[in-house]
Amino acid sequence: MNTAVDMVSLSAPVKNFVSKPRQALIDGRWQDARSGETFDVFNPANESVIARVADCKRADVDLAVAAARKAFDKGPWPRMSPSARGRILWKIGDLILENLEELAQLESLNNGKPIAVARGADVPLAADLFHYMAGWATKIEGNSLSLSVPYTPDAQYHAYTRKEPIGVVAQIIPWNFPLLMAAWKLGPVLTAGCTVVLKPAEETPLSALRLAQLCLDAGLPPGVLNVLTGFGETCGAPLAAHSQVDKVAFTGSTEVGKLIVKAAANDLKKVTLELGGKSPNIVLDDADLDVAIPGAASAIFFNHGQCCCAGSRLFVQEKSYDRVLEGISKAARSIRLGPGLNPQSEMGPLVSKTQFDRVTGFLRSGKEEGARTVCGGKRYGETGYFVEPTVLDGTSDKMRVYQEEIFGPVVTVMPFKEVDDELIRRANDTVYGLAAGLWTSNIKRAHRIANQLRAGTVWVNCYNIFDASMPFGGYKQSGWGREMGSEVLKNYLETKSVCMSI
Ligand code: NAI
Ligand code: MG
Repeated sequence: MNTAVDMVSLSAPVKNFVSKPRQALIDGRWQDARSGETFDVFNPANESVIARVADCKRADVDLAVAAARKAFDKGPWPRMSPSARGRILWKIGDLILENLEELAQLESLNNGKPIAVARGADVPLAADLFHYMAGWATKIEGNSLSLSVPYTPDAQYHAYTRKEPIGVVAQIIPWNFPLLMAAWKLGPVLTAGCTVVLKPAEETPLSALRLAQLCLDAGLPPGVLNVLTGFGETCGAPLAAHSQVDKVAFTGSTEVGKLIVKAAANDLKKVTLELGGKSPNIVLDDADLDVAIPGAASAIFFNHGQCCCAGSRLFVQEKSYDRVLEGISKAARSIRLGPGLNPQSEMGPLVSKTQFDRVTGFLRSGKEEGARTVCGGKRYGETGYFVEPTVLDGTSDKMRVYQEEIFGPVVTVMPFKEVDDELIRRANDTVYGLAAGLWTSNIKRAHRIANQLRAGTVWVNCYNIFDASMPFGGYKQSGWGREMGSEVLKNYLETKSVCMSI
């Protein structure tokens, strides 16, 4: 284990931020929970308490939703010129970049991810999302329509569509990319002119709170963004079911996604969901293995496997099987584990005790069901929630490790003979459909296979490439709707048809 001596020393703003209990943001003011209660936030690398935050529950949900309702029904945000709104969004992006180091340290401290990843990916991607969305604020357009109404042959009409913000939106997000998930959700919802109540995950509330302050600093009017820290059942559930919320946008487990749909069903709120995955990653014999092997390792081990799109089912064509299995195992063994704040660390801990128990439970179940552990397979060190990068082979389609989302650094590797319908069937043989990977030098095959994969994103000769302009989301039980790109704006807009007799 890396020693504390090597650690990045936390900057003064980060030390200051975690030194006092953090409050919730309601109606433009930082406030304690109505109950006055707080809960602890942990450092997953050493299990110590790093901060305390407000434990928001139903009473706080009522206040936050009322504030968002007032800001939507009467406030300036939905009525502001698109250009003015876009400038505030752009400014949020700028402020994220100006505070890059502070946000990266908070993210690494709270989530456990390597500081270099937070600095190089999470924070810049979050800023870029706001910059990208800022441009859309002035480009949300309806159409003019040419009507041919058969029962009024002599009439003339001027008919058009308007895109209007959907209203008050509840957004509930997970802990794997705490800042980036907040950005993915807030960028488009604010661009559309909606108002929001955001609930970050109880494990990782810190960077969303810091981002909310940056949004206020950028000029976001009071009540447009409210942030409640709290637990799923006591804060997320009443928020998702609240009668004054028009729409719920959720990212997290498929299990809770189904609960959100049920909660929203009472008054038929709109819902979009970004859920789990068990993504196939396929290496053909004609692939450049010098690229495919590190690519397949990164597809599963990036972010400690805590990615909804992780390439967790690796299919390798027979001739290349031994070389890929050996190569990915070698890559797994060489990954340096340690606290995210140690710049030497390439993989940090899992986010929580619960996730640690869950992932190590899967490792036990794999062994019991007869999978062979080629490397890894157990805890790393004695403190913190570290799990060794693990490669399993000899798995069958029936095993839990093959079927269920593990959400840890665990890959199952399976051989296949031919590039045929059976390969496509196996790749698609899961309840999920979030992402897929393909490694080949044959361009025709690449297109044909990409077309047949039932997944929202297909990466060819690359993996985990994200961009603010590229839609991301799921087929099947991986979700409803898309994040990012212009597509995501649909999540937050209503279409109104106006028909005028002239
Ligand atoms: P989760 O789905 O319980 O948590 C995600 C968010 O939902 C958190 O903010 C949580 O407070 C909230 N939540 C939980 N229960 C709720 C409820 N009844 N009503 C409203 N909100 C609720 O995910 P969890 O328990 O942290 O992780 C379990 C598994 O979920 C992971 O092992 C992984 O397989 C999957 N997961 C998928 C993610 C993705 O990006 N698609 C992210 C996180 C987890
Ligand atoms: Mg849960």
